Amino acid sequence: MINPSSSSPFHILSCLVVFLFLPNLPSLLADPDPSQDFCVADLSASRSSSVNGLPCKPASKVTSDDFFFDGLSKEGDTRGIFGSNLTAGNVLAFPGLNTLGISVNRVDFAPRGVNPPHSHPRATETVLAISGQVLVGFVTTGNVYYSKVLTAGQIFVIPKGLVHFQMNVGQGKALAFTSFNSQLPGAAVVPLSLFASTPSIPNEVLTKTFQVGENVVNSIKSKFSS
Ligand SMILES: *[C@@H]1O[C@H](CO)[C@@H](O)[C@H](O)[C@H]1NC(C)=O
Repeated sequence: MINPSSSSPFHILSCLVVFLFLPNLPSLLADPDPSQDFCVADLSASRSSSVNGLPCKPASKVTSDDFFFDGLSKEGDTRGIFGSNLTAGNVLAFPGLNTLGISVNRVDFAPRGVNPPHSHPRATETVLAISGQVLVGFVTTGNVYYSKVLTAGQIFVIPKGLVHFQMNVGQGKALAFTSFNSQLPGAAVVPLSLFASTPSIPNEVLTKTFQVGENVVNSIKSKFSS
């Protein structure tokens, strides 16, 4: 039986929209719900075919250790140019998170250290300050800036996909944990996306975008070249 609405312009349009976005589904959408209790990732298994998350380790081989991760217990080295250090607790570091739609990072800050402006395409984030004074801010798609200085135990939420940063505005070190509703939230770090991509974005794009001379663009690019 033919659905009378199947040839309506709206139907054709929705098919087109679905079709256009289908190839990008894994990167555009939030993590799907799991279809089993757990699926500890087997990081060594072939990833040639794409599945919901990563392939599962056989359940008979899973132990309590697969649900445990101590990778965030150590302080990161903050001597890099940004004065911050991010230790990731995503599915690639902690395979037990696979298909569970959640992950957590540790961020250490030297005084005045910054976790530079970036966005997570696949996750909303909460920032929990453990010590120090952490300025957290994000900017909406309407260019409105929201921010707060957090102290121990306080939380700020970063809506999914928006550009945000953290900075240590206290006198000593600072520590924060960031949590995500994705096992692999991804991060597009604005300064690196624009000035440290491979291959480079043409200088003319950047000089026109920022209304500065090529010397300024080259100077910024040189800070990020290793
Ligand atoms: C972060 O800290 C770890 C552990 O100290 C270190 O291996 C890594 O190089 C640091 N990363 C940066 C970007 O400084």
